[in-house]
Amino acid sequence: MPKLIVVTREGEEREIDGSAGLSVMEVIRDAGIDEVLALCGGCCSCATCHVHVDPAFADRLPPMSEDENDLLDSSATRDANSRLSCQIPFEDALDGLTVTVAEED
Ligand code: FES
Repeated sequence: MPKLIVVTREGEEREIDGSAGLSVMEVIRDAGIDEVLALCGGCCSCATCHVHVDPAFADRLPPMSEDENDLLDSSATRDANSRLSCQIPFEDALDGLTVTVAEED
């Protein structure tokens, strides 16, 4: 099972066994980390699943859609490593991926 490492807003690091086939957002939510609100349920319309992704994994992530890019633009805390976690399918190739929950907008 691929592992996902989540750093919470308080700086706590949690290692989660993720099921391939879920999105990164769903893996975080299913682990009971409620800082990722995911209000739209993963349909790329709320930006409350914003995370900062370890740059070492950048080239293994799917390209960003125009919708995701536009939504991230609405966040004051966007940086070069920002992604919407609902738009990243979790898979074996992402084993060890570290994401940091973005600050609340
Ligand atoms: S859950 Fe709403 S954009 Fe990701």
